[in-house]
Amino acid sequence: MAAEPKRWQLYLDTRLRYLIVRDFLHKQLYKRLPPQTGWAHVLGSLALLTFLSQFVTGILLLLYYRPTLKEAHESIQYITGVVPFGWLIRQLHAWGATFMMLAVVLHMARTYFMGSFKKPREFTWLIGAGLLMATMVFGFTGYLLPWNQLSYWATTVGTEVTGAVPLVGEQMREILLGGPSVGQEALSRFFLVHVTVLPWVLITLVTLHLVLMRVHNLATLEDVGREKPYPPESGVPFWPVHMAKEAGVAVVCMAALFTLAVTSPWEIGAPADPLNTPEGIKPEWYFLPTYQLLKYFSGSWGKPLGILVSGVPFLLLFAWPFLERGPGRRPSRRKWAVRIGIAAVVLALVFGILGYVSETTIRLAGQTIAIDMYGVPHLHALH
Ligand code: HEM
Repeated sequence: MAAEPKRWQLYLDTRLRYLIVRDFLHKQLYKRLPPQTGWAHVLGSLALLTFLSQFVTGILLLLYYRPTLKEAHESIQYITGVVPFGWLIRQLHAWGATFMMLAVVLHMARTYFMGSFKKPREFTWLIGAGLLMATMVFGFTGYLLPWNQLSYWATTVGTEVTGAVPLVGEQMREILLGGPSVGQEALSRFFLVHVTVLPWVLITLVTLHLVLMRVHNLATLEDVGREKPYPPESGVPFWPVHMAKEAGVAVVCMAALFTLAVTSPWEIGAPADPLNTPEGIKPEWYFLPTYQLLKYFSGSWGKPLGILVSGVPFLLLFAWPFLERGPGRRPSRRKWAVRIGIAAVVLALVFGILGYVSETTIRLAGQTIAIDMYGVPHLHALH
């Protein structure tokens, strides 16, 4: 129970109904989590922290960023070169995108392998899948904003994929870009989606996600329908025990983010030049598996087929809680689901690595090895 209200609290309560808020927060803070709740359960709040960091650094970048063809690249140069600590804010935001994506993916993997998405948490998962999509669109739209060669050409290649969707592809691409190619209209649209639409989408989805998480509490590892009620004393107190873990992980994560921001800065790159295609255009790491997979499909039939094939994992993601319906949550009770999960991770890694090394050349023991677009190495003797 919350303590007896003090005089100032009664003052605020008379005017603002303060005690209702206080009692609600007290209940949330002192809630007991299931006894098995451990370190793996901090990943969701890590995803939240990285989102908040993106939110704050993004607002600060907006003070000086200008979304026009003439000024976009210059404004990033101004932010990094002239504005006090502007370089740091930009680096935290650029690296922060990778951190957020990592946190979201690891959190998703944890809820998958622990079977936490099963009844009654199917919709918590569905909203989570929406959050993953929103995070990816955040990354895609943000990539264009510095308006450098890489961002211009990666967006051109990325949106060409949309154009290959059967029947409606071209129209979809035109709506996305606001014209036949990447230009001012596209920059305006990507900017608008990145700074207004997506933050609201994410805030709404995260709120629903957290409300559902609170309503159902965290899942245990017991089979669906066989969950035994645990005595409240044996549960893990959210405050201070679980929050201390969350805070510890948050400090380590923020330290890593600052270290990378300072030691491995993202380049600004040359300004976008629509007449000059640079070599080695690659998307962000989280798009590499799809990017690589699509390369194996070409021609008028191949391309739409490739889009269909690369869409399957995303469809499965949304449908999964309704496909895997057995009661088991423990990995030992879900051998097939665990195998499928591991296969998905391995495939994503293999295609990601192939995408990363494709169209590069490496030198090894006096030999030049050229890796073609499909990731196949070709040996050339050095002259
Ligand atoms: C911005 C993205 C996300 C945020 C901020 C977020 C936040 C959270 C938090 C704080 C929790 C409770 C603690 C924990 O389990 O770690 C949670 C639980 C959960 N999340 Fe997420 N999440 C996000 C994305 C996702 C994704 C992509 C999925 C899956 C597709 C997902 C599925 C779930 C499920 C099923 C639970 C319930 C876990 C349980 O009851 O044990 N979430 N989320």
